Amino acid sequence: MELTWFKKGTIYQIYPRSFNDSNDDGIGDLRGIIEKLDYIHSLHIDIIWLSPIFSSPNDDNGYDISDYCSIMSEFGTMEDFDVLLKETHKRGMRLILDLVANHCSDEHKWFEEARKSKDNPYRDYFHWKKPSIDGGPPNNWKSFFGGSAWELDEVSDEYYLHLFTKKQPDLNWENPKVREEIYDAMRFWLDKGVDGFRMDVIPLISKPEGYPDAPDIGFRKIIEDVYANGPTLHRYLNEMNEEVISKYDAFSLAEGVGINEDTVGLYVNYDRKELDMLYHFDILECTIVNGKFEEVSPFDLVQMKHIFKKWRDAIHQTGWIANAMGNHDFARMVSRFGDDKKYHKESAKMLMTMLSTQNGTLNIYQGDEIGMTNISLLNIDEVRDIQSLNFYKENKITHKYTEELALEMINKEGRDNARTPVQWDGDEINGGFSKGEPWLKANPNYKDINVAYQEKDPNSILNFYRNLLKTRKEHDVFVHGDFEEIEFNNPKLYIYKKKLGKEEIMVMLNFNSSEESFDAGSNINEVEVLVNNYENLDVENNNVLLKPYQGVILDLK
Ligand code: GLC
Ligand code: CA
Repeated sequence: MELTWFKKGTIYQIYPRSFNDSNDDGIGDLRGIIEKLDYIHSLHIDIIWLSPIFSSPNDDNGYDISDYCSIMSEFGTMEDFDVLLKETHKRGMRLILDLVANHCSDEHKWFEEARKSKDNPYRDYFHWKKPSIDGGPPNNWKSFFGGSAWELDEVSDEYYLHLFTKKQPDLNWENPKVREEIYDAMRFWLDKGVDGFRMDVIPLISKPEGYPDAPDIGFRKIIEDVYANGPTLHRYLNEMNEEVISKYDAFSLAEGVGINEDTVGLYVNYDRKELDMLYHFDILECTIVNGKFEEVSPFDLVQMKHIFKKWRDAIHQTGWIANAMGNHDFARMVSRFGDDKKYHKESAKMLMTMLSTQNGTLNIYQGDEIGMTNISLLNIDEVRDIQSLNFYKENKITHKYTEELALEMINKEGRDNARTPVQWDGDEINGGFSKGEPWLKANPNYKDINVAYQEKDPNSILNFYRNLLKTRKEHDVFVHGDFEEIEFNNPKLYIYKKKLGKEEIMVMLNFNSSEESFDAGSNINEVEVLVNNYENLDVENNNVLLKPYQGVILDLK
């Protein structure tokens, strides 16, 4: 197997709205990203993924596109984009864009036309259905963001499908014209020189024939069995690859919603020629039992080891995945999986030590390199995320939780946690993100957690990431290799050896806030320490004593 640039590369995801604001209107923009390219490069990043930058009324912050080939005016101009692309390439990095092809905005010309009349040529770009006999929606499908997935169009007395908000009508991929429109948009950007796409909810593009009611099996399972993996999906992914992606030196990273270890091969196995990789939801959702704002289960390390192993085994030698523990849709990784108070520094470093040694492309999210944490929004007026707002509104009707509890849940799991402005400087207003009022407030902890301070501190999370990502580049065994798990059922320690050709490493991670020891089996006193989030490693004979949240990588060869 060849380690192509996108397999070996580290991806850095930017949520442009929150990254850096160059003109102080409170909204991050393309010029703001350009200003920080040297910074990104200094992290040893290979590929930048931009969340959507296309024209959009921003019902879902750009995941509702009204023109696939123009730049959102708040973010800048096409000239700005051209400079961004050129400057990214100049530094030896690549740039991928976020292709939102399952749905567009209701303000896209296609939908504005389609809703004019039943015989409009664009009508069939979307999914329309007559009301059910009682006049209600045609089936029981629920939107990912609450409520029915169908919205009545009063002009024609038909419902249209929207798996997300009602301002995000689903596109009808069975219509060859729709597919051609999307492929044309992709070519437009690829011809400019972009290096690929992250593909938003791409497993949802093909809908089950006849739009049958979903059985009562819980939302997660409904996604897998009803919304995702539709009958024509793989035909279209194959077509998209054949007609577009494969013609360029570009790759696809899919958002693996509704995919499990049994179906992943159909998407990413090399011989299928569909997608280059995907990130799955099992780690990202391992504490979320059945969808956001419902039951939350405590973090369980053994369960997480099982998940990593399961996915590794599922695509071993046959396909490829990417690994992520955070993105713009989830609360901050250090707050969820580490300790964002007493062991903030240690746990943030340890978690990335783990993620960077899992098989697959490494995917990191803006701000995690300084250990940005969740935020406590004080009241509902401070909440910006449409998913959280919809949940709050729906709860006002159902009274399932008290208002205090609903806000608490939003603060725990809501997407705004990941979307607060990047904390550049502790001495500047709004953490240096903008001099204007930010669209979503900055986390007040920017005074302690910020890039400027961490630049000066050789032991900062930031400088640890730099060293780790650089070391990863020098050792392919970080990226892929054969695993040997040690003490697999230990609920506090995660320990494994990895081997690739002549390279061999041992990774030792303590997920606990107290010291933990284990028997390393052989003498490891003499071996080289490649990475360590503490100054020392305590070894006596074969016995290793790991400090709270200590993470170490040894070179065994
Ligand atoms: C994906 C995006 C999310 C968006 C949704 C609808 O899950 O990551 O941010 O809201 O798709 O496009
Ligand atoms: Ca701006």
